[in-house]
Amino acid sequence: MQKEIYFAGGCFWGTQKFFSMVDGVSATETGYANGDPSFGGRPSYEEVYTDKTGFAETVRVCYDPARTGLEDLVRLFFTTIDPYSLNRQGGDCGTRYRTGVYYTSEEERAPLEMLFDRIAGELGGGRPAVELEVLKSFWPAEEYHQKYLEKNEGGYCHIPLKTFAYLRLFQDLKALLGDEPDPVARMSNTAALIRERFGFHWVGFYLVRGEELVVGPFQGPVACFRIPFGKGVCGTAWKEGRTVVVPDVDEFPGHIACSSHSRSEIVVPLRARDEKICAVLDIDGAEKGMFDATDALWLGKVAGIIL
Ligand code: SME
Repeated sequence: MQKEIYFAGGCFWGTQKFFSMVDGVSATETGYANGDPSFGGRPSYEEVYTDKTGFAETVRVCYDPARTGLEDLVRLFFTTIDPYSLNRQGGDCGTRYRTGVYYTSEEERAPLEMLFDRIAGELGGGRPAVELEVLKSFWPAEEYHQKYLEKNEGGYCHIPLKTFAYLRLFQDLKALLGDEPDPVARMSNTAALIRERFGFHWVGFYLVRGEELVVGPFQGPVACFRIPFGKGVCGTAWKEGRTVVVPDVDEFPGHIACSSHSRSEIVVPLRARDEKICAVLDIDGAEKGMFDATDALWLGKVAGIIL
């Protein structure tokens, strides 16, 4: 049996494109949700645009619960929004661009509330500005707002475009790694897939061995064998237990230059079951400024499924 959930994530064009790519999602529809109860009947885009109807641009997502869970969908939704931005996402502002998760069955409320609490804890910035409410009304949007970005190639999208490439990578990687138990095998094909998709200069892993990192499976030019704890970008990410984004390697004190072609870098820690860091995923870009918060977010998700 199919289920449905409604996501308001700013401009519904990008949100629909994103969820139409999610494995297990069978249908999506853009529309207007949870408007002012005094507004009678179906609103037009122009009426919603006045920002006086109380409706939020929303996407109805139908999914097969045997293939994807509500938690996975909500977590994916959070990768497409700024959860602390009130009534503003990307270049759009107004209450019609507020963010929200709207459920249709009261049974979903408690698990969703618990999930919101967990996500708030992980985000570390307090309760997000994302509504969690029962769906009170939903009116499908006009036909030209359905699958808008499919019909209008290069049309406005408030979601960073690399988000779509990362979603594909993340889903394909999950399928590729499957239940292969060997961590070296999993890291090897992860490095290969990331490099194949994005063409980064160097993609690989450094493994914690005592007080040092030792190079592990990678794709790209010859690399340094060992990096001490706290040294370089890799040793810093290990020591500080966080993802480190370096837009310009020349500006990072102590950067270890394995290759003169590397201009920017991102390093993401990998945690073992005991939560201890046991490796880092290191990616080098051949140009400055190749990595930002979107890469950090998605490569964090990637790192979470490797071990
Ligand atoms: N630049 C890294 C060393 C590893 S190479 O990028 C492959 C660092 O400073 O830790």
